[in-house]
Amino acid sequence: GADAPLAGRRALVTSGPTHEPIDPVRYIANRASGRQGHAVAAALARLGADTTLVTGPTAEPDPAGVTVRHVESAREMLTACEAALPVDVAVCAAAVGDWRAAEEAAHKCKREGRDAWALELVQNPDILARLSQPGANRPPLVVGFAAETDAVVANARAKRARKGCDWIVANDVAPGTGTFGGAHNTVHLITGDDAEPEAWPRLAKTDVAERLAARIADSLGEGS
Ligand code: C5P
Repeated sequence: GADAPLAGRRALVTSGPTHEPIDPVRYIANRASGRQGHAVAAALARLGADTTLVTGPTAEPDPAGVTVRHVESAREMLTACEAALPVDVAVCAAAVGDWRAAEEAAHKCKREGRDAWALELVQNPDILARLSQPGANRPPLVVGFAAETDAVVANARAKRARKGCDWIVANDVAPGTGTFGGAHNTVHLITGDDAEPEAWPRLAKTDVAERLAARIADSLGEGS
């Protein structure tokens, strides 16, 4: 119906940072707040979607009406996402750590006995790229985010092609925008190679989420 255009649809959203363990007491993290991803999950659920939110550690409360899977590392996030499939739409808003320690030490790494410590890092899986790979379980609509500081649209277009996702929400995170961790976001929505990028006005992250959820509902509605 008009109130629940996503009733009967399944949605997956990633949100938050990841924590990549170094040893039992230390980890590598980033400053993502989870605000945008949590708001997208809440908005999709409000439109009636059966929504799973896979989130890294964040201070954001679990959104109402959403199935929340709490994870720490990128690898745990990927496993939880794959377990949530199949879905009609996946939105990857998490700030997944690109790197993790090559080995997680079983014991706390001691300072004594060394002046320096080189930490070897290896790449984490790219969850958005994995979800976008062709295959039986590929969601019909996969949406990524692209945090850019310059040439926002050009870089986001390239990212869309590289990742293989359908839509990209490009946001300007240049210093001074206050996007990272803040309550507002200025985004461009790119829905295809030939589609004109849509410049949305500066909006509260909750309003970006509602607009995006409405667009997703329109798109899935056309397909059914
Ligand atoms: O490559 P970059 O990190 O800029 O891409 C951002 C997009 O990719 C976001 O949608 C983010 O959630 C997703 N991503 C991911 N897994 C990674 C890195 C990024 O899902 N390891």
